[in-house]
Amino acid sequence: MSCPPPFHQPVMVAQCLEYLAPRENGLYLDCTVGGGGHAEALLGRSTACRTPTRLIGLDLDDQAILEAGARLAPFGDRVTLIAANFARTGEVLARLGVGAVDGLLADLGVSSWQFDQRERGFTFAPDVPLDMRMNQSGQLTAAEILNRWRLDELQALFQRSEVPRSGRLAGAIVVQRRIAPFRTSTDLLRLLEGLGLANRRTFHPATLVFQALRLATNREQENLALLLSQLPSLLKPGGRCVFLSYHSLEDRPVKQAFREREVDGSMHVLTRRVVRPSEEEVRSNPRARSAKLRAAERSTAL
Ligand SMILES: C[S@@+](CC[C@H](N)C(=O)[O-])C[C@H]1O[C@@H](n2cnc3c(N)ncnc32)[C@H](O)[C@@H]1O
Repeated sequence: MSCPPPFHQPVMVAQCLEYLAPRENGLYLDCTVGGGGHAEALLGRSTACRTPTRLIGLDLDDQAILEAGARLAPFGDRVTLIAANFARTGEVLARLGVGAVDGLLADLGVSSWQFDQRERGFTFAPDVPLDMRMNQSGQLTAAEILNRWRLDELQALFQRSEVPRSGRLAGAIVVQRRIAPFRTSTDLLRLLEGLGLANRRTFHPATLVFQALRLATNREQENLALLLSQLPSLLKPGGRCVFLSYHSLEDRPVKQAFREREVDGSMHVLTRRVVRPSEEEVRSNPRARSAKLRAAERSTAL
């Protein structure tokens, strides 16, 4: 009998804990709690302590909150889970009466579970609906973007998402949707195959286009920018944050924000070089292969 695949295999758990360095009696924020893998490891660390750590977990996806709730149930009232966008972390903490936390983790992007659920539309497997919403009560879907956005909006999206030949692609989408609206991944894949997009040696031609649509559907870049703009005030003096990113459009803003905070003296970067998973981890969890970890600490001088 085969076991069902795990909801999500967390990435670089040991390194996340090393940089978060959880304190006894500390309060931690997992901005992307997902299946609760990182959260479980963090809470488990201090279970034997007299005053163990507590954790607030956020996720945009109600299903992830349910999953994390079941996994973290053994930790009882040490855990508070909230379906919320991390772009509004400051507001969420204020509602809980929390000023700042001892550590913050943001493991960006989608979970394996979201990716593997065909009906959620995150993969470019054939005949998958063009949905891609992390928050299923959200209005905007990938199909809506393809069928309704203006030519210049589509071109700007593909350009900022670094999709090659963005103008030609946007034009082809506008022509195609007059013939028939985009409904499934197959509709889009056919168009992309016709255009021969991207470098086939390194990427499936559709990877960057699907990624661009996912980023726009969930406003991922805007949300990340809003979270980063709340640093360092979400952290107590000496509090730490760890970001795990999976592509350059996520990693670059984190790197840039850390650099700016270091220049203004409000934060100290702990990872001079980006931290990557070991070969062994990538072998056992291929989805870890593109992961990059960056960590920083709020200055105690403030
Ligand atoms: C890579 S998974 C996190 C997995 C988690 N670390 C674990 O151990 O299971 C990313 C999660 O972040 C959530 N997410 C993405 N953007 C978000 C946002 N702006 N606010 C809250 N959650 C978000 C996704 O729904 C997904 O569940």
